[in-house]
Amino acid sequence: MKNTILTKFTICGLMLSSFYINAQKTTLEVDASKTITKIQPTMFGLFFEDINFAADGGLYAEMVKNRSFEFEKPLMGWEQPNTKRSSMNKESGSAVPINLAADNTNFCRVEINNDKGYALINEGFRGMGVKKDAKYNLSLKAANPNAAIKKIIVQLIDKDQKVIGETNIIPNSVQWANYTAQIIGTQTEAKAKLKITFEGTGTIDLDMISLFPEDTWKGRKNGLRKDLVQLLYDVKPGFLRFPGGCIVEGRTLSDRYQWKKSVGNVEERKTMMNRWNVEFSHKQTPDYFQSFGLGFYEYFQLSEDIGAEPLPILSCGMACQYNTGELAPMDELDPYIQDALDLIEFANGEVNTKWGKLRLDMGHPQPFNLKYIGVGNEQWGTDYIDRYKVFEKAIKAKYPKIIIVSGSGPSPKGEHFDYAMAELKKLNAELIDEHYYESPKWFRKNAGRYDNYDRKGPKIFAGEYAAQSVSGANPNNRNNWECAFSEAAFMTGLERNAEVVQLSSYAPLMAHEDAWQWTPDMIWFNNLQSYGSANYYVQQLFSTNKGTDLLSITQDGKALIGQHDLYASAVKDTNSKEIIVKLVNTAASNQDVNINLKGAKLGSKGSMIRLVSENLQDENTFADPKKIMPKQSEYKIAKGSQQFDLPPYSVTVLKFKIK
Ligand code: AHR
Repeated sequence: MKNTILTKFTICGLMLSSFYINAQKTTLEVDASKTITKIQPTMFGLFFEDINFAADGGLYAEMVKNRSFEFEKPLMGWEQPNTKRSSMNKESGSAVPINLAADNTNFCRVEINNDKGYALINEGFRGMGVKKDAKYNLSLKAANPNAAIKKIIVQLIDKDQKVIGETNIIPNSVQWANYTAQIIGTQTEAKAKLKITFEGTGTIDLDMISLFPEDTWKGRKNGLRKDLVQLLYDVKPGFLRFPGGCIVEGRTLSDRYQWKKSVGNVEERKTMMNRWNVEFSHKQTPDYFQSFGLGFYEYFQLSEDIGAEPLPILSCGMACQYNTGELAPMDELDPYIQDALDLIEFANGEVNTKWGKLRLDMGHPQPFNLKYIGVGNEQWGTDYIDRYKVFEKAIKAKYPKIIIVSGSGPSPKGEHFDYAMAELKKLNAELIDEHYYESPKWFRKNAGRYDNYDRKGPKIFAGEYAAQSVSGANPNNRNNWECAFSEAAFMTGLERNAEVVQLSSYAPLMAHEDAWQWTPDMIWFNNLQSYGSANYYVQQLFSTNKGTDLLSITQDGKALIGQHDLYASAVKDTNSKEIIVKLVNTAASNQDVNINLKGAKLGSKGSMIRLVSENLQDENTFADPKKIMPKQSEYKIAKGSQQFDLPPYSVTVLKFKIK
């Protein structure tokens, strides 16, 4: 009996003591006197892939889908609501004398049998976003062989067919000619369409029917969507990886991404099916094609605009191993290697070289100062290592300073990963790309992943990662707060290991509300609006507070990697003269943290930026895009140690001014 009571007391005592431990203060020591390593300016960057309508229908501001009638079904995206009174044909380029490029052979032949009522309507990318009073620039090519058509009337219509903007073109050339006009929106409408009608009876040929907002990023003609680039810019990314992702590899080698087909005159860039069109049976997107209007020149320019190092990834002669796994034989790798060498010349070469001259002709005489190039995306096995060696040799022979990114496959663990890491280490690979699409719990548990990586071995590019609330690429995944703060916990580990991890990026970057294939995504948009997810703000917080020098932050001499559900990292910023501490509380309760800062004299005021939300399932949405946003406040710096109360599920950035 006595014993039993004692046992009960003991259990109760244990429970109390564990409660007491949870509630007690965590004391952290920050040593500002010693820089562990420099933080690379590339530490936090962006991964861009044309998935989820991120390029066509997204960043590339073209509003007309299938503008050049080059989709597999040439009239996809175009409606003819009243075909009984007229007809339309598609002809091949050779059927009539035209001056179009070899890679843009289709055009639209319209026969108007009576002079009223026939309409050709483009549905846009799940509609067109039109804003009241905004200007839209229309351009098209037309040939009016018999001068039969007197006028082309172009209107924006809303979902009820009401005209919300209008212009017209007089097609006065019998030959192919370019025409431009402007439409001003009279109403804001997210699902507008472009309607074309004709005056006259007879035949007219049309091609490259295009509509762009005038208000693009930097006001560039036919440029990029301003709100979306602004979101990228606001991350202050260290690099921009492009064009993917699996899109680099292709389902077969012939549909791999070929950068040379994405540069030069926009009209001559050959449209092709986007691999994400058919990738997921649960998310087929039959109208997803690549116009390459956003091509490699534009990617380099975008990188420059947002202050990011350009980081192109190229095919290494292996198609996606989840699809065909088609291989370019080892003795037929030359064209692939030449593409890599020519790309470096395009980016950096003198303007009197073949590819440097193209850069000049496209409007950028100055080099883009390319420093990195990636060989393959998510390849695995000996086939990859064999090909990587050949690429490495050729690139280094001609461009010894270019840093080559190699890949470790699609998973952060397992046989393929271990093999790739061991082989690449033997080859003294410079920068290895790791990908992880794992659960939020995995991210919290792996905050120490890089603590034991060899400091003298290859550097790491955490090139694609995102916490998946359900499972990898599951369509029910959400950009919820649990995922976001778990990534923040993990990112303290990236930062603490800045000696090894030199680049990192969340993936995928963007998704159209009505046309996505993969979720979660950092930025969501529709035709009028866009917003950053909670995950976006985590990325932004880390990137804009990355500092310049890594400092140690410890509890009893150990890194904080989840003890009491707390995570921490610390840096110094020698430019802003600040010590920056990042704290993540993944517990459902408040936590008190004491920070003892040695090795620096602090000013009297500090600032705090906090991201917090009450529920694990909370997320930003179109209806409430700012639900989870960083909030800034100031605090007085105390003498001695600094005390902070961390709310449940919170990410806190503390900035201490140094005297
Ligand atoms: O980010 C989406 C896809 O995930 C990428 O295309 C691929 O590299 C990875 O499997």
